[in-house]
Amino acid sequence: MFACFDAAVDAGKLDREAFKFGHRLLGHPSLSLENLGAVLPALPKNQVMFSKTPLATGDNFEATFRARPAGQSLEDTIETIRTSSSYIMVRSPEVHPSFAELHRQLVADAEILIGRRGVGGRAEDAQLYLFIASPNAVTPFHIDRYSTFLMQFRGTKSVTVFPQWDQRVVPVEAQEAYVDYASTQLPWTESLNAYGQEFTFAPGEALHIPFVAGHYVKNGGGDVSISMSLIFNTRESMMWRRAICFNHRMRKRLSLFGMTPFPVGQSPLRDGAKSFLYRVGRRTQSMLGQR
Ligand SMILES: [Fe+2]
Repeated sequence: MFACFDAAVDAGKLDREAFKFGHRLLGHPSLSLENLGAVLPALPKNQVMFSKTPLATGDNFEATFRARPAGQSLEDTIETIRTSSSYIMVRSPEVHPSFAELHRQLVADAEILIGRRGVGGRAEDAQLYLFIASPNAVTPFHIDRYSTFLMQFRGTKSVTVFPQWDQRVVPVEAQEAYVDYASTQLPWTESLNAYGQEFTFAPGEALHIPFVAGHYVKNGGGDVSISMSLIFNTRESMMWRRAICFNHRMRKRLSLFGMTPFPVGQSPLRDGAKSFLYRVGRRTQSMLGQR
């Protein structure tokens, strides 16, 4: 039934807990280093972000990729990636014809799982991300505003994932500011590892990372790592996103009265009401011509 995923994927865990499963895309020609070397320079420059500085677990992941390092071409980076501590992140490679069909098939698989889980029938804003990284490269601790299926194609890595709504790991204020694009710096200390679950990850394996679950990645030392993720929202995670943004915007106002908003993710009824109010507020603002 699935085109890309193993048959035994448990849809009931979607956006509830991290889990590993198998994918059937090993050897797919789109993911070869040769094809990537041809595709990446053909993509719009703002979809290809790279860094030559080794990153640490506590670094600000999104900010790292905002600036393009001076005097460094993508071609150079691919050429030297085995030894250069480089990291390339490609957003939406599906705009290139060699990734379009793969994207379509992965979205169809995700939508089967979304339907089984009962959170709508569509993978909203579904995009692919490609990650090509040197041996031992680190993806710093961060959260995503999406649900993720991460698939490994070459090299090994360990991915540590933290419980989705655990405020000991991601304080609720930091989560709200992150999701609402106000600040992408999350507090990190090594002691947080006590709450994480480490998954070792090899070619042919896939991992689900739930919406806003903290995670970081360490590549193995043996080879260049090539992985790809499908990120998307469901009807439920869209509701969570809007409710979190509502909380972020209300938090300051409520603090004037000594109150704090109730954290998202514990009451569908409350989250649904906040999501509705956030949507109404946005619509009213746009009708009044404000941002
Ligand atoms: Fe991520």
